[in-house]
Amino acid sequence: MDNIILGIESSCDDTSAAVIADGLLLSNVIASQGVHEEYGGVVPELASRAHQQNIVPVVDAALRRAGIDRKQLSAIAFTRGPGLIGSLLVGTSFAKGLSLGLRVPLVDVNHLHGHVLSHFIREKADDEVPEFPFLCMLVSGGNSQLIVVRSPKDMEIIGRTIDDAAGEAFDKCAKVMGLPYPGGPHIDRLAAEGDPEAFRFARPRIPGLDYSFSGLKTSFLYTLRDNLRTDPDFVERRKADLAASLQAAIIDILLGKLSKAVDATGVATVAIGGGVSANSGVRNAVADFCRQKGIKAFIPERRFTTDNAAMVAIAGYFKYLDRDFCPYDSVPYARVEI
Ligand code: KG4
Repeated sequence: MDNIILGIESSCDDTSAAVIADGLLLSNVIASQGVHEEYGGVVPELASRAHQQNIVPVVDAALRRAGIDRKQLSAIAFTRGPGLIGSLLVGTSFAKGLSLGLRVPLVDVNHLHGHVLSHFIREKADDEVPEFPFLCMLVSGGNSQLIVVRSPKDMEIIGRTIDDAAGEAFDKCAKVMGLPYPGGPHIDRLAAEGDPEAFRFARPRIPGLDYSFSGLKTSFLYTLRDNLRTDPDFVERRKADLAASLQAAIIDILLGKLSKAVDATGVATVAIGGGVSANSGVRNAVADFCRQKGIKAFIPERRFTTDNAAMVAIAGYFKYLDRDFCPYDSVPYARVEI
């Protein structure tokens, strides 16, 4: 094993560490933070404190499961942004300290590049990876983007949301239904038992490849408000139909722009990534769409859709091969595009 990369992810509320050797994943450990559940969202200060508690045992476990001694590491890759500054500071400081202590290079990773490059995480040498160029639909709690990926470092955003992200649409609508945070997985579960045509929520009419989800959210709210006036049990009685119709609307919006982007770029491969790509309806719709179009679909395993260090390690591996290292005076950033 020549190139052994430790990846560290701490951008939001998951502390994760992973080891990739010569491009193959040896371990991926994730500690999620239950502390936020009772607040209905991530509390930044609590997140950074939990990262501080988790980071040493998580890195330790990743090395142990990989069967790697820290002296064997070739480089330390870490998420520099975008994300919560306090959370990012924990991973950044830890990565710098480890890199200095071991005298190995430090590699900074853009979290969004990590999501896009998660399709290159291989556990076996013959696992299939996308061919360049491909189109990636990145859909998470903070982003909804269509990205043309020409190489690990050449990515161009050709469409983005002008208001809410797809995950926010799931989470905000779920919240008004009284579902726990994050609501996306609950909507997914309920939608399986509901009628996707029971309600018709608004679809945006935005030209080009940009997304919008705020009109859908408003029409969802109005439906609830109008029905609750006469039927206080409306949400409880119709929650499966509401979830199924909401999910159908989000898929419709996502797939409409994806289809336009495929026609505009002429790519032969489509990949999806980010938390919302864990959604069963989204996964099936993208797979069906690609089958009909005769193009290849890359749908990540669910454990690589949400935040994880395996994607940081693989993005770091590509930069390491290019000798693209990070100076020690680099600081985390809260916001950035691709
Ligand atoms: O990529 P991610 O873990 O990080 C952030 O961007 O924060 O994405 C989290 C988002 C949340 O909005 C969550 O509700 C959504 O992904 N999500 C889902 C599902 N699993 C996670 N949305 C719909 N269906 C799911 N199964």
